[in-house]
Amino acid sequence: MAFSPTSILVTGGAGFIGANFIHSFITNNPACNVVNLDCLTYAGNLKNLAAVENHPGYRFVKGDIGDAALVASILAEHRIDAVVHFAAESHVDRSISGPEIFVRTNVLGSQVLLEESRKHWQSGTVADFRFLQISTDEVYGSLGDTGYFTEETPLAPNSPYSASKAGADMLVRAYHETYGMPTLNTRCSNNYGPYHFPEKLIPLMIHNIINRKPLPVYGDGLNVRDWLHVRDHAAAVETVLKQAAPGSVYNIGGNNEWKNIDIVNLVCDLLDGRLGRPTGENRSLITFVKDRPGHDRRYAIDASKLKRDLGWEPAYTFERGIAETIDWYLANQEWVSEVTSGAYREYYARHYEGAAQ
Ligand code: NAD
Ligand code: TYD
Repeated sequence: MAFSPTSILVTGGAGFIGANFIHSFITNNPACNVVNLDCLTYAGNLKNLAAVENHPGYRFVKGDIGDAALVASILAEHRIDAVVHFAAESHVDRSISGPEIFVRTNVLGSQVLLEESRKHWQSGTVADFRFLQISTDEVYGSLGDTGYFTEETPLAPNSPYSASKAGADMLVRAYHETYGMPTLNTRCSNNYGPYHFPEKLIPLMIHNIINRKPLPVYGDGLNVRDWLHVRDHAAAVETVLKQAAPGSVYNIGGNNEWKNIDIVNLVCDLLDGRLGRPTGENRSLITFVKDRPGHDRRYAIDASKLKRDLGWEPAYTFERGIAETIDWYLANQEWVSEVTSGAYREYYARHYEGAAQ
């Protein structure tokens, strides 16, 4: 029988995917309470939630997932019956220059959240309970030219980011195996869409093209990613939360593989027309830079289990999704200016300094 949550705790709901999930979840479940716990790092922005902030069932709590007392009080006070755990440090490049915060948030913070959730679930104050760990295909490591990640692929993370996500996934598994806690684990491919922070490939390229800045492509540009629209990811998460059997793991993917250089060329061409620039002008901004250390060559998800068991499939074609995303960034330049001010500029200058090949 399907699980029907009445009061959910979303962690990291002020970030890219969490905010998109809250938007769609509230639309689909107007009677369910949604508490958003987010400590608002550089990647979290309450403007991402302006459309839902006055919804009667929505509450924002500024705080850290590693604060056990705070987590315990939220779980009890709001009689939370599902935790959907997005909060994380999420950028591979930042994990290479500073891994410590990745372990603190993604591993230790997740453990605190799990432990407080276990106590709350075992207290019996709610009739049923789910803990959904949002993870990434990057925990599986890197593929060659062929093959796909399935849920049975052994974890072999290569970056401090993916290692910290794999650590949390293992803890989630252990809480199910050891305590029988009703956990769920999803592993998704690269997302794109509105509210994506412009340090990741697609929004960075859009932002730099608009501002006629160089477009830094790492290495030979032939690394492959499988792109999924963030709203398709949000729909998949809701499906797994309500329908999946406790203890299960589901891959989520777009069946939409692109070489980085092809994506960058496409974004350049789509923006030539929209910005009234001559065809090919934006491509002249492409600059090949030093490769990312340990750069995974190819990610590709086999999401057939999710389709077979729960009937989920992506609704967006890439053609539609990328065009809408570019138009969203053009229409939301104020948001972009806000999130790329101050610390972003320092990060950007430091990260790309001397990176030109
Ligand atoms: P994001 O970096 O945009 O947002 C992360 C959010 O978590 C921010 O709002 C931040 O303030 C919050 N946060 C960070 N540390 C916290 C803490 N200690 N306590 C409370 N809040 C904290 O990330 P995203 O791209 O939205 O990713 C969300 C989740 O999805 C992550 O777990 C990530 O690993 C996973 N994921 C992301 C992608 C992708 O393509 N972006 C793909 C697959 C999986
Ligand atoms: P990213 O958006 O950081 O996601 P992930 O590393 O989690 O897949 O990067 C996507 C791909 O784009 C990855 O192969 C690295 C590459 N990339 C660049 O070539 N240049 C850039 O400036 C960035 C941020 C990424």
